[in-house]
Amino acid sequence: MSTIQPHGGVLVNRVLEGAGREQLLSQAGSLKSIPVNAWTISDLDLIGVGAFSPLTGFLNEQDYNNVVDNMRLADGTVWSIPVTLTVSEEQAAGLAVGDRAALVGEQDGIVYGVVDIESIYTPDKKHEAVQVFKTDDLAHPGVVKLMERPNVYIGGPVQVLNRPQPEKFGEYYFDPSETRRIFAEKGWKTVVGFQTRNPVHRAHEYIQKCAMEIVDALFLNPLVGETKSDDVPANVRMRSYVALLENYYPKDRVFLGVFPAAMRYAGPREAIFHAMVRKNYGCSHFIVGRDHAGVGDYYGTYEAQDLLKTFTPDELGITPLYFEHSFFCKKCGNMASSKTCPHDKEEHLTLSGTKVRALLRDGVCPPPEFSRPEVAQILIEGMSASAETAAR
Ligand code: ADX
Repeated sequence: MSTIQPHGGVLVNRVLEGAGREQLLSQAGSLKSIPVNAWTISDLDLIGVGAFSPLTGFLNEQDYNNVVDNMRLADGTVWSIPVTLTVSEEQAAGLAVGDRAALVGEQDGIVYGVVDIESIYTPDKKHEAVQVFKTDDLAHPGVVKLMERPNVYIGGPVQVLNRPQPEKFGEYYFDPSETRRIFAEKGWKTVVGFQTRNPVHRAHEYIQKCAMEIVDALFLNPLVGETKSDDVPANVRMRSYVALLENYYPKDRVFLGVFPAAMRYAGPREAIFHAMVRKNYGCSHFIVGRDHAGVGDYYGTYEAQDLLKTFTPDELGITPLYFEHSFFCKKCGNMASSKTCPHDKEEHLTLSGTKVRALLRDGVCPPPEFSRPEVAQILIEGMSASAETAAR
């Protein structure tokens, strides 16, 4: 099995099966219920399968306060993002510490799990926003999500009874126990994890391949949970990843599997979270490039890297691989960064996200030095399909 220890030492498993599951499911009807949306269902499931090890449930008040203020759980383990369950004041009035409550999908009525309530508390969300996102600006997509949530938090261990079912690309969903087994079966001792919420452009490809030169394999682990509306939809991205790997990557050194979590856009703090989770999936290394998990101008280009560097290797338990802003240099005739290229900025091909989106919307492929044509073609098709849906 993988030699990489999960975060906190043990891969958490809170997914009930067989008779235990049947028994709890039959109990669930008589329990008080807490409605949960897609985001919370995804958090619950990721706790259940151990992707969020060492979390065994939603944060109780003590852990929450420590995470918000010190980026650690109450026992000192590094944890940078609050994973919380929310209810309204009215719902909270009907719940008590010691209760077991059913977590019921607000759309489908499915009982996804139960929580054993350990604490009920009203957080200072503004403080949480400033600590986690470094801003309370409602224009920040993570802040607005936080502020829109109900005001009371419920903490306590969970058990998963039903798993959310992917609508598409089900063959790319793997639990951490599965990726760990697969990496071991392939004989990979060192695996670099790559987080992305975007299509893989040449700069991403370049830093992945630089990393691949020094480890056994790449785990391409795109985030496919909730993202903001102007990010490329996961289904389009998935098609583009498959096409890219098919054409430009060695089959026996890459593994594609999704990370079904919501994007927080918490920049530096989310980089730590992303690294811990990839450790749980069995990665030994993790790529952190420029403005990791950033949005707008809220974070400095290398702030995520600087924050990771404040923790010791033992505390992290996964080796971050840091990359400078990468680009295609016309003079060099290849991909480079300021670490490897001596030429002026004018020689560098850089396109803003807005510019790329505009090209794609007009059905124009960005230059091949920016995006592989196979990828660009899929993005163009995806854009025109979503424009048609929107027009209907
Ligand atoms: S993220 O929100 O998931 O971080 P994105 O998918 O764009 O966004 O980035 C994935 C990873 O690639 C991150 O580690 C990011 O820092 C890195 N990255 C993206 N573009 C570049 C670039 N041009 N140069 C260096 N690193 C980059």
